Amino acid sequence: MPFIKLEKCTRCLKCVKDCPAQAITIETGEIADTCIHCGHCVAICPEMAVRPDFGDVFLLQPHTVTPKDFRNLTSEIRSCRSYLPKDVPDAVLLQLVDNMKHYPSANNARSLQISVVRSKEKVKLLNDLTEEALIKMFSFITSPWVSPFIRIFAPSINISKLKRYKASFIEKQKTNDSQICHHAPAVLLFHGEVSNSEMAEADANIWATYTSIYANTLGLNTCFNGFIVKAMGKKSKLNSHFKVPSNHKVYASLLVGYPKVKYRNEASRQSPIVVLL
Ligand SMILES: Cc1cc2nc3c(=O)[nH]c(=O)nc-3n(C[C@H](O)[C@H](O)[C@H](O)COP(=O)(O)O)c2cc1C
Repeated sequence: MPFIKLEKCTRCLKCVKDCPAQAITIETGEIADTCIHCGHCVAICPEMAVRPDFGDVFLLQPHTVTPKDFRNLTSEIRSCRSYLPKDVPDAVLLQLVDNMKHYPSANNARSLQISVVRSKEKVKLLNDLTEEALIKMFSFITSPWVSPFIRIFAPSINISKLKRYKASFIEKQKTNDSQICHHAPAVLLFHGEVSNSEMAEADANIWATYTSIYANTLGLNTCFNGFIVKAMGKKSKLNSHFKVPSNHKVYASLLVGYPKVKYRNEASRQSPIVVLL
């Protein structure tokens, strides 16, 4: 629970008014257990009289990112599938993970864990086991016994595409090439407890997205990887190899490394359809 130091409090009521759970009784300094641990009371207090439930309070530094900077940065960020054979220092990988404390989490539980796969051997293992798992999965789905049912009951699954993926994974296996991890020096796995709510998945994708942007400011490039997420589902045999607990599922994964290629042009893409109401 956050804690109000009443002796520092000037009763400005900023925390009371901003609390989304109406959990603060300023007269007594009590915070009810309806508190959702968002930390707004800590963030808004001009006297730093509200202490967080974890760690300390620091004065925010004004950022210098202009809208133009942000637009330029995001238009420059592309999925990287070609990396320099250069390790990302552990300190930098840990910096990426440390900054995740600033990213939003659906119920403030912040229960995601991150496995950082960053040795050549482990990344290759992740690549190979993912390929193997997907070849098995796609062979089953595209088999003559199963595919007719898939066509009827799950028509959105593109059987021909899965067949193409399966063939190309088998081809890559023969040449010992890396179609999943693209020889990235590091892969981040965002995993959390399997639950019926989709919140862990939302958190994982948000954290991975912010991480991708932050990584790019550090000269790194990234690539989301849906194949790994598909292969490392609930009770996947791969999980134990990468310290993913048995009750966890990988909800997002991000390849990280120094890019071998540099894109110089902004390729126009369609903006989403917008409806102004
Ligand atoms: C959720 C998600 C999963 C993705 N999975 C993969 C993947 O498994 N392998 C891959 O090479 N690219 C993957 N991508 C990258 C997309 O293919 C890529 O975003 C798209 O081609 C557009 O290119 P850009 O990211 O350079 O703009 C994924 C992207 C997202 C957002």
